[in-house]
Amino acid sequence: MERHSRDYVEQRVRAGVLEKSTVDLMHALGIGERLAREGLVHSGINLTLGGELFRIDLKALTGIAVTIYGQQEVMKDLYEAAKARGISVFFEAKDVQLQEFSDTHPFVNYTRNERAERIDCDFIAGCDGFHGVSRSSIPPEALRTEGRTYPFSWLGILADVPPANSELIYASHENGFALASMRSPTRSRYYLQCAADEDIGEWPDERFWDELCVRLGRVAAPGVTRGPSVEKGIAPVRSFHAEPMRHGRLFLAGDAAHIVPPIGAKGLNLAAADAAILAETFAEFYRSGSEAVLERYGPRALARVCGAEEFSRTFLEMTHRFANGPSRAMQCAQLEKLLRSQEALTDFARGYVGVPLT
Ligand code: DHB
Repeated sequence: MERHSRDYVEQRVRAGVLEKSTVDLMHALGIGERLAREGLVHSGINLTLGGELFRIDLKALTGIAVTIYGQQEVMKDLYEAAKARGISVFFEAKDVQLQEFSDTHPFVNYTRNERAERIDCDFIAGCDGFHGVSRSSIPPEALRTEGRTYPFSWLGILADVPPANSELIYASHENGFALASMRSPTRSRYYLQCAADEDIGEWPDERFWDELCVRLGRVAAPGVTRGPSVEKGIAPVRSFHAEPMRHGRLFLAGDAAHIVPPIGAKGLNLAAADAAILAETFAEFYRSGSEAVLERYGPRALARVCGAEEFSRTFLEMTHRFANGPSRAMQCAQLEKLLRSQEALTDFARGYVGVPLT
């Protein structure tokens, strides 16, 4: 069940870095054909510091690369596969209510095309995002939550211009963080750290490009090709998780259960891993008939989440400007230490490329 229209989900711009675990999962599901054709395999990323550019060779450090492929492309592939496999997706489902999930016969009420509908099921997978109905249907006293919203946001644009560099650039600058990413050789995605209450109307394209070039610095800025933005948006930066990720027959997955800061693009990868672990759990349940296997999902999924949360927080704290947080001098010292130490770089690269799904 999806609250939005198919068109909306397929157009909505989200992150675009797939970990190997997600790429492998798509291939295992037989939905990796377009990904193999169109995904951009990146064996390294770059950091800037003091205007210089430093490359981190992910492949050499870990043996693993990442793949650039937009989240909405993954959604298109999933919807196509669902259609071909006879799996129904109900778009524009409104007034969703989860019922009786503490019991073994849950059901879901919702409205579609003004008609009240009901689905009876064995399980409910709550994959409806941070603001969705799933987590908020669980009694608050049954959940332990942990998290914070950072006092800044990310201002992102998409433009049909060649990327600044063949690989991503994460820029740490005294004005704040910047990220040069891409979707294809002709489509760039850029982000700037901005105020939490930033007014997007204050950011005409020219101002964005000017500030991006300042933050990317002396070596990277000349690579920027300017052009009109085709999308511009502001996203909050937060970190959150709820546990347990299960209440009776309701299982939380993806952003419904956890949010990591956007740096490192872990959100989609964590959601895909949750779904894979959940699918395995259900398969094991139907094979064995054992209720006990249902208890394994949450702890297994949460272990990955906590690892990614820690990586994203560390990366964020080294690169973003804080009014009340790590000082610039401390951040520069940390970044220099990272770039100087093979051991620290390997650890960082492992965090970036993510943990295999075992
Ligand atoms: C993108 C987003 C990220 O958060 C990141 O770390 C890398 C890339 C992106 O949208 O392209």
